[in-house]
Amino acid sequence: MKMTSKRALVAAATAAVVFAASSMSSAHGDEEKRFAESQYRHDVMELAKYSLSNIVQHLQGKASQEGDVAKLAEVMALSAEMSKAAFEKDTRGMEGHTEAKDGIWDNWDDFADRMDKYAADTRALADAAKSGDMSQIGPAFKKATSNCKSCHDEYRK
Ligand code: HEC
Repeated sequence: MKMTSKRALVAAATAAVVFAASSMSSAHGDEEKRFAESQYRHDVMELAKYSLSNIVQHLQGKASQEGDVAKLAEVMALSAEMSKAAFEKDTRGMEGHTEAKDGIWDNWDDFADRMDKYAADTRALADAAKSGDMSQIGPAFKKATSNCKSCHDEYRK
């Protein structure tokens, strides 16, 4: 269709950005604006959150779109694979909001190891999800998501 032109796409993208910005500011109240690196890594993490919560809907039987578990697990794996690089730049002391603790760069080797394990476990989940076998998906999901809390407890404000 001609109407789904570049202009319509730009309008839709703009609406999405406005929506995201407004939902972020309501969630974060008067918090300072994030600097670019902080926004980027936050948004990479959000991809993991959204794909994870939609996988949960499938596991709970609340969603049943054929083939989506494998696709969502792929999004999650890609997000995990982008995560280490998103934190690589040392942003200690930078002006603006972040929930990243300075400890990330004080203990970069530990943080990087955790990111590598997170990426590997999430890739294993994506592989399990392709099989469609719930007896493989369940344990792989549990293993992949165990990385989230343990890292947040240590390295997120
Ligand atoms: C090795 C460390 C590590 C792992 C693993 C990790 N995260 Fe994070 N995550 C962080 C850090 C650090 C931040 C804060 C980033 C910032 O604000 O600059 C963060 C931020 C987030 C945010 C933004 C939350 C907010 O309040 O701003 C979400 C959502 C999130 N992570 C979800 C996840 C999910 C879901 C997983 C697992 C599937 C995960 N993370 C795995 C370190 C990690």
